[in-house]
Amino acid sequence: MSHGRFDNPVVAALAGFWDIFRKQENADKLNDSHRFEGKKVIITGTSSGLGFALAVDMARRGAHVIMAGRSRIPEAGEMVMKQSGSRNVEMRYLDLSKIETIHAFVDGLVRDGIRPDVTVLNAGVALPKARKTASGQDEMFLVNYLSNVILTNLMVNRGVITPPVNGNLRQRIVFISSDSHQGSSAIDYSEFGLFYDYGVSKGIENYSYFKLVLNTYATEFSRRINNGVVNAGVNVICPGPVHSNIIREAPLPLRMILGAIFRIIFRSPAKAALPVVYMSFSDDYEGKTNEYLHMFNTKKMDPKVYLPEEGEKLWKESIRVWKEADPDFSEPILDKASI
Ligand SMILES: NC(=O)c1ccc[n+]([C@@H]2O[C@H](COP(=O)([O-])OP(=O)(O)OC[C@H]3O[C@@H](n4cnc5c(N)ncnc54)[C@H](OP(=O)(O)O)[C@@H]3O)[C@@H](O)[C@H]2O)c1
Repeated sequence: MSHGRFDNPVVAALAGFWDIFRKQENADKLNDSHRFEGKKVIITGTSSGLGFALAVDMARRGAHVIMAGRSRIPEAGEMVMKQSGSRNVEMRYLDLSKIETIHAFVDGLVRDGIRPDVTVLNAGVALPKARKTASGQDEMFLVNYLSNVILTNLMVNRGVITPPVNGNLRQRIVFISSDSHQGSSAIDYSEFGLFYDYGVSKGIENYSYFKLVLNTYATEFSRRINNGVVNAGVNVICPGPVHSNIIREAPLPLRMILGAIFRIIFRSPAKAALPVVYMSFSDDYEGKTNEYLHMFNTKKMDPKVYLPEEGEKLWKESIRVWKEADPDFSEPILDKASI
């Protein structure tokens, strides 16, 4: 069935164009003097684009940055150190299309006693056609959606994300999404997690649709981890149109058209990173959860995202697909009670 608001990639790219000129209401709340010494942040998908720029910005502001990526190890980390002037940067291997690496990544966090103040779930792909992963799912479904379910649940199960201790600030989880999720069709459970073939236009629809699914999960995760008391800030942000590598797999003619649009109109990753830095560390978000930013503007997500019955159903279906896909599946403790 049809999922997205856009079935044309050029229209989808241009849709972000007008957003750049909207007034940025919170833009003055982050400036160069804001520092985050003593804070620890995990960012996924840091080899390029927004994730790389986030690593540079946060490291420059004094945070301990853990770059979780599948490529350019250690080059990307060395570049981040050089550009930020900080040595407080490390790289860890994480390929979100391979579930076993998510387990190994969380094992490493537990082994090293890492309890991040902020986790930014940034990695994402835009694929021109369906591609089956070793565990049997479509790669875009797994990387852009299900891997985040697995990673966040394992982090909670293994005590990497826990309630605030000794008066510490609450941990934050920031989901990088896209405002293109607005208007995507309701979640279709008849095909949920199943692999099927698709081409470019369906791929563009699915990209937006999986962001709607991701936002619905983030909202349900926020409900479950908090259960009436804010234990963790679970928030969602769209960075706006970013001149990044996201179209790298598009067919050549399309890549040339989109590349020109990206170059001329889209914002640099360094600029797009700023609202994410703000949402990750600002006191304005202390004690808050299930917030949404579109660049620096506070907004609501698509109304479907907030329906408790949708969240409940999506949670169950996601855990079912995870269980089927993963021989090392472990029952989420958030299934039983709040932490
Ligand atoms: N560009 C935009 O206009 C735009 C707009 C709204 C939202 N976003 C979102 O912003 C996020 C970052 O995208 P971007 O625009 O910065 O694109 P990008 O330059 O292509 O960066 C994507 C990052 O995700 C990583 N990644 C891809 N597959 C992975 C996997 N299997 N395991 C681990 N990491 C993986 C990539 O690593 P490799 O280099 O190893 O592949 C890369 O570091 C995405 O969630 C995207 O949906 C982008």
